Parts: sequence; structure tokens; C-alpha cells
Amino acid sequence: MAEIAVIGCGHVGLVAVGCFAALGHQVTAVDVDTRRIELLRRGVPAIYEPGLEDLLRDGVESGRIEARDRYPAELDADFVFLAVGTPSSTGGASDLRAVRDAISALAPTLRPNAVIVNKSTVPIGTGNMIAETALSAGDTSVSVVSNPEFLQEGTAVDNFMNPDRVIVGSDDPDAAERVAQLYEDFGAPILRTDIRTAEMIKYASNAFLATKVSFINEMASICDVVNADVTEVARGMGLDDRIGSKFLRAGIGWGGSCFPKDVASLEHTASMSGAHPQLLRDVVEINKEQRRRIVHKIQTALGGVEGRRIVVLGAAFKPNTDDIRESPALEVSDLLRLAGAEVLVFDPHVSAEKIRVEFPRLTVTPDLIDAIEGTDALVLATEWPAFIDLPLAELALGMRTALFIDGRNAMDARAVREAGFTYRCIGRPGLEGGPLEPVTHIDRSNGVGSDHALASNR
Ligand code: UGA
Repeated sequence: MAEIAVIGCGHVGLVAVGCFAALGHQVTAVDVDTRRIELLRRGVPAIYEPGLEDLLRDGVESGRIEARDRYPAELDADFVFLAVGTPSSTGGASDLRAVRDAISALAPTLRPNAVIVNKSTVPIGTGNMIAETALSAGDTSVSVVSNPEFLQEGTAVDNFMNPDRVIVGSDDPDAAERVAQLYEDFGAPILRTDIRTAEMIKYASNAFLATKVSFINEMASICDVVNADVTEVARGMGLDDRIGSKFLRAGIGWGGSCFPKDVASLEHTASMSGAHPQLLRDVVEINKEQRRRIVHKIQTALGGVEGRRIVVLGAAFKPNTDDIRESPALEVSDLLRLAGAEVLVFDPHVSAEKIRVEFPRLTVTPDLIDAIEGTDALVLATEWPAFIDLPLAELALGMRTALFIDGRNAMDARAVREAGFTYRCIGRPGLEGGPLEPVTHIDRSNGVGSDHALASNR
């Protein structure tokens, strides 16, 4: 078993801490954020990730995890995994301050023959910069390996333990071999390559997945006008092994802490290096357009959103995480607010405080049933499983006009319609039940709605 240090206790770092400890390694976790470290000392993750808390608690109780908020004089580790944040900065460039700070702080503490293993997503060439910085601290036996992470929030523990592939990039074959051995028991293919190529594999993978989603979203807009069903189109395409069925779910677009930042960073690197990354630019543009498109759909269905009360279901950028970074749900909510709607956001796992930090003008509601009274539309923006089983008929009763916008094509359209809703979705016009009709308010005082009411609440 190895002695491992993990620098940075965000999503990638904490999952590595928990999983390496579960595999029997001795893990030292370091983060300058004292709150995260205090939580970790009690076995509590600072993020919401299914299955992680059990691993951290076991690791802390068994003494296999030690948490530190500063670097010791000597780091007892054969492998030092870097998992610090690399947020987007001006023009899409990655902000590498945390990487630089971590390397300067840890370089003097390394034991001879230690391997620095970089898991942070970094622009191509950063691994070489890390090597130079570490070497300039004096110890020439230190090696650098790029070992990009491919885990998805929400299934991160399983992704770590059952990887599709492991990428090990290094100019030092011995160091690469030692890192590869850490993963050998997983039985996944291990690709050994150079540092820059490993860094590029990470960006190319995320950019391709984002492209796949933007592609199917573009197909969805075409389906909307030619009257085809994008879900069936995706199924038909996905049966071809060369295409594959994953990441072909049309919706209100991609978000999160990785795709937006990584596509922007690759586009930036490419442009700054004289390449012309046209496809990446279009992939981003289609994604922006997807948010505007759903707002337009709501406006068309309601005959304008000014003064309308709209409840948005979901704030997280996808289900099974409380991460709201670049969340399509919140961006759509804010676009609706800017268009004059009264917007209430409901999410079963994201706290109101968290949302208010990013979007102070959005109203967050803790109780869906309370919020529903007098509402004109429900917009499903994050496909939390709890939303799929909503008491739809009951909700429709309290609404002013029962419009359901399924921004993730996640609902059973017939069940939604049977509950009294007018249903709208993405790229499946056949399920929407005929041409759009303008909506006018129902006069609730005498219980009589106008001819064009979406649905009566009585
Ligand atoms: C993504 C990658 O999938 C991971 O492999 C990678 O390790 C990670 O970024 C990272 O670089 O750290 P993640 O950000 O957790 O993982 O999210 P995904 O599950 O990939 O979803 C990204 C976005 O695409 C979400 O907003 C999701 O709703 C959207 N999406 C995904 C779709 O709209 N349709 C799909 O078919 C799939």
C-alpha cells in the first residue's frame, strides 16, 4: 500500500481521498480551506456526492485519512495528487494561481523520488511548468505525471472505482509505471503517453461530450420544425456502435463546473496558438441558444411572460449534485426574470443561500406546494428523480394556467397531459398535443376560463 497526499479537497480531491483510503492506502489530505478540513476530520464531505460520506467516515475512523490545513515540513507521501481548482478567467483562459501556489508550497516538503500526479484540468504545457517549478526547488528526483480525472458529479465514487480508462502521461517511464500500478486492480485499459498528450486527452474528451450534447440539441430544434421526435432520433442513432447512445439527451443545454470552463479554455489555448477552433465556438453558441430557445417556447405558450408567475423545478446543473456552477436551470430562471416573469426556483438539494450568492435577484422557494398557488407555468430544468413522481394533478389544481415545460424530456408526456397540463418539451412536437395556442388568464372568481386557457384549475 502506498502513502498518498491529495492537495485540494474539492470534488475531484475528496473523491480521490475517500477512494484511495477505501483501497487501503494511507492518505494525507491538504486544503487551505480550514472549513473543508474541519469537516473532513469528522468524515464529512464539503460537497454533496452520493456514497462519499461513508468512505470518508471509514477512512477517518480507521486512521487511513489524515486532514491538514497546511503543509507539514515533510510530506509523507510517495505520490502527491494535485486536485486544485483551475477556474475560468479572462477570455476563457484557465486561472492557474491555485496550481502555482500549491506547487511552490509543496515542492520543498517532498521526499526523494516522490511523484507529483496532476489531476487538475490544466492547459496543455502546465505539467511541464509544474516539473520545472518542482525541480527548481532543488530535488532532481521528483517526477511529474499527468493523470486526468474523468469522474462525473453524482456518480464520482463509482467512476473512480470503475474507470473506463486510465491515462498516465509522463516523460519519466518509471514514474508512469508507479502511478499505473495504483490503478492496475481496476482492470481498465491504461494508456501511457506523454504529459502534453494526456492533458489534451482530458480537454478533447470534455469538448467531444459537450459537442455531442450541442449536436443533439441542434437536432432537437430541427425536430421541432419538421415534426420528428428527437428522443427516437437519438435512440436510432445510438444503436450504431460508432455513435453510441450516451450524451444524446436533448434538453436546455449543458453546464457545470467542467464543460463550460474546459471548452472555453481549449478554445482560448487554440486561438492563442494560432489554430481556428470554429467547431468549439459553435458548440458554445448552440448551448447559449438552447437557454434562449426554451425561454422563447415559454413566452410563446403563455403569450408573453411579463407578470407571469413561473416555478422552475431544479437549480443544480444536473441531478444528484448540489453544484450550481454554470447551471442551465438558473440561467433560464434568470432569463425569465429579466423578461419580466415572477420566478420561483425550487430544488430539493440546493440551499437557498447558495443560489442567492450567484443569483441574488432570484427568489428561491423551500416549498413547492406553497409556491404553486396562482402559478402560470412549471418548468422542469433539472431532472431530479423526485420531480418525475410529482403529484401532478394536485399541483395543476392550484395553478392559474397549467402549463408544464419539460426542459429535459424527462416526464411521461401522457401522464402530464392527463393531470390537466398543457405539455411542452424539447424536440418532440408530436407529444405536445397540437399547435400552440395563446394563453389567457382564467377568471377564477366565477370559475370560467377563456376559450384559449391552457388548462383550467378547477
Ligand atoms: C463532466 C464529464 O462528463 C466527466 O467525464 C469529467 O470528468 C467532468 O466533466 C470533469 O471534467 O470534471 P460533469 O461535469 O459531472 O462531468 O457532468 P456531466 O454528467 O458530463 O454533464 C454535463 C452537462 O451536460 C450537464 O449539464 C448535463 O445535464 C448535460 N447533459 C449531459 C445533457 O444535457 N445531455 C446529455 O445527454 C448528457
